Amino acid sequence: MTLAGKHPELVVWSSEPLNVETPLEMLARSHVTATELFYVRNHGPVPAVDPAAYRLVVDGMVGTPLALSLEELRGRFETTTVEATLGCAGNRRAELATLRPIEGEIPWGAGAIGTARWTGVRLRDVLRAAEVAPDAGHVAFTGLDASAAAEGAVPFGGSIPLPKALGGDVLLAWAMNGEPLPAAHGFPLRVVVPGYIGARSVKWLAAVTVQADASSNYFQARAYRLFPPHRAVPSDRAADGLELGELVLSSALCRLTEGGSGARVVAEGYAVAGGERTVERVEISPDGGATWTAASLAERPRPGVWRLWRAELELGPGAGEVAVRAWDSAGETQPTDDAGVWNPKGYMNDAWHRVPVARQTV
Ligand code: MTE
Repeated sequence: MTLAGKHPELVVWSSEPLNVETPLEMLARSHVTATELFYVRNHGPVPAVDPAAYRLVVDGMVGTPLALSLEELRGRFETTTVEATLGCAGNRRAELATLRPIEGEIPWGAGAIGTARWTGVRLRDVLRAAEVAPDAGHVAFTGLDASAAAEGAVPFGGSIPLPKALGGDVLLAWAMNGEPLPAAHGFPLRVVVPGYIGARSVKWLAAVTVQADASSNYFQARAYRLFPPHRAVPSDRAADGLELGELVLSSALCRLTEGGSGARVVAEGYAVAGGERTVERVEISPDGGATWTAASLAERPRPGVWRLWRAELELGPGAGEVAVRAWDSAGETQPTDDAGVWNPKGYMNDAWHRVPVARQTV
């Protein structure tokens, strides 16, 4: 039996709550990730929501608070479809954990990421209808699920700055890849925030609250923070951790296959940039970073959407290490290794992706 309609080859980190990761070899197959292959990151049980009784509450610093049924959302606002990549802040944590243990967190490989076509309405349009107060600063989202991991089992939530919320690319989505949102991905309605950590794309959306400050929800104010690396465990003082927001520039080698010209192998993978930045260049090294080859990039550069890449490589005899790095539209590239990136909760690993290879196993 498949778990929540997911492909049986997904890596199951836990089934309750459901946390599954896409094997890298499958991730590189297509620009849009099939829903059955798409990773799932849940902090609590999937809530059962009656779509007929469902109302989306829009409140806080607004002139006209709203309580919208799904029908009203569809009827009052323009429907749009956007492609967006969702990536977990904990993507590539396993690499960090090889340096120093990271307790109590899922050891995600590089497959806690995927790209889907999301259909819904623009958050901007809904906020305009609610008439946002001029001194508002942030837009907070609250889910219908409650996680036992949060103190007092609070609902999952988080916020984004108001300018991002009004930017037009943030969606309240009811469909994923042309089908109604599956329960595991937030049925009946979720937020999709392109360019931000996946945690801000709140599922099973109950409320959109306009407020002066960033969210005080456990999952933003206490968890999902970047704690200083010299602490073995996160401090109790959440203030010691930086709040996360935009994704970091990252890339991964997903598969190596025979079939290049001559003795060459074909390397394929993804690269993703954060915020409004785009992936502009990807390079791959057959020898741990001594020499580099430019990869060819598919699709045009777009903020919030990954780019799959492909390169042919000559792998020398014996074991070695293939490394990948990307550049973004701000001219930034990725740090050389995990050591400078390590943090106690294992977030935002943007170091070169290094994969050991033995020539004979390729
Ligand atoms: N929204 C709710 N309500 N509850 C959650 O546990 N997990 C978040 C986010 N939205 C979560 C949530 C995290 S950490 C990520 S990475 C993304 O959902 C994952 O989205 P997906 O499961 O659709 O891939």
